[in-house]
Amino acid sequence: MSEGGSQPSAKLWGGRFSRPTDALVDELNASIGFDQRFARHDIAGSIAHARMLAKQGIISADDQAEIERGLKQVWREIQAGTHEFRQSDEDIHLSVEGRLREIIGAPAGRLHTGRSRNDQVATDFRMWCREAVLMLAAGVTDAINALLEIGDRYPDAILPGYTHLQRAQPVLLRHHMLAYGEMLLRDLDRLRDVYRRTNQSPLGAGALAGVTYPIDREMTAQLLGFDDVCANSLDAVSDRDFVIDTLPACSQISMHLSRLAEELVIWSTPEFGFIELDDAFATGSSIMPQKKNPDVAELIRGKTGRVYGHLIAMLTVNKGLPLSYNKDLQEDKEGVFDTVDTLGMILRVLPPMLQSTTFRPEPMEQAAGGGFALATDIADYLVKQGLPFREAHEVVGAVVGYCAAEGKDFPALSVDEWARFSPILAEGRPPLTPRDAIEARNVQGGTGDQVVKEARQAFDARFETFQEWIAEKTQQTAVLDALLETE
Ligand code: ARG
Repeated sequence: MSEGGSQPSAKLWGGRFSRPTDALVDELNASIGFDQRFARHDIAGSIAHARMLAKQGIISADDQAEIERGLKQVWREIQAGTHEFRQSDEDIHLSVEGRLREIIGAPAGRLHTGRSRNDQVATDFRMWCREAVLMLAAGVTDAINALLEIGDRYPDAILPGYTHLQRAQPVLLRHHMLAYGEMLLRDLDRLRDVYRRTNQSPLGAGALAGVTYPIDREMTAQLLGFDDVCANSLDAVSDRDFVIDTLPACSQISMHLSRLAEELVIWSTPEFGFIELDDAFATGSSIMPQKKNPDVAELIRGKTGRVYGHLIAMLTVNKGLPLSYNKDLQEDKEGVFDTVDTLGMILRVLPPMLQSTTFRPEPMEQAAGGGFALATDIADYLVKQGLPFREAHEVVGAVVGYCAAEGKDFPALSVDEWARFSPILAEGRPPLTPRDAIEARNVQGGTGDQVVKEARQAFDARFETFQEWIAEKTQQTAVLDALLETE
């Protein structure tokens, strides 16, 4: 990008000014450095706007044809990397219009009829956001598929379930993976919600109050793949709640993946030894030769911080703004760009990392059988023999206390030792394997082998509706490419 320099170029809005803007103001004011990401949306939006102006008789068909031809050329130049993004052009809207004027001359001056940069930027941004939402949703489906695949790869694997990071009760690995699947399905649902509210067209709201030309807002909305038009012009140009909706949805995805990442970090330690990360998804230490560090998982966890940060920044930018547009709103972009880039990256790296991770069912199951993780099952056994649960809890608590003092675990206790704690335990043997614990939990939503198999099937059906939604909306948003196509 070239600098404004000491000879700033004439502004498209320069009419009422007798002196050029200070170079520092140009620098502060410019958003071209980042809003160039809207180039595709901006040009498609202009093509749709010009077609509508011609259809309504507001500009001539000849001018419209020239404008469209010129805009398509600008788009080709931007794609080819030959378009010059100049700081003095301020933003993507003026940059495109300025270049259009260079290419087609006078008719370019008619494009901005019945439009303002205020409805223009809101339109561009909504189109950008809806695509970002779909891209992230597709990434979330990849992550879900990777989690399902782990469950399918180790359908019988058992690991300890934890509370307070203390071994609590055995669970199936597949059940554990499906837990994240549920979280991510809700994340998809949130994204679907965000998309629905985002995909409304502000175009035609003008600067803030609507315009004085007989425009057709439905036409531009339809050409640009919007589901509806924004009902109120002031709201259309000044609210950014579609951005603010996107950020908490991203924050929760990030948070869920961060929890998963944390588990991968823990599971990969030699102390746990539940998983082995593939060499391609781990890093070494420059001083300690033995190290194989889970940096990828740690970065997934760590990057969640900046995602949360952008949410708070965006809420704060918006909170004191009187209606309608204020330049503060130019600060609405970089945070969400960084959020989408960051989360997009995480969603690209996580699935292959999960796919290449080796799980170790033996140490996992061994851990699930130790640490008194079967205590609840023994208490339940006593209850089924007639003891009230509170008494059973008391009895097993005493067994645990005894074991802890003796440095033993349940399986090491002799018949005599069991007998000391309850006559019931003198007679029969309580369930003592993690597999027993799993098989005992075939209740709805539980970790029982049968119900988890069913849950896996039921999950697929719900998951499919989101995949269909992504495919349908991706097709809907592809109308922009059709607008930009040159025959
Ligand atoms: N670059 C501006 C933004 O991002 C575009 C809208 C400018 N509107 C205005 N009235 N200055 O918000």
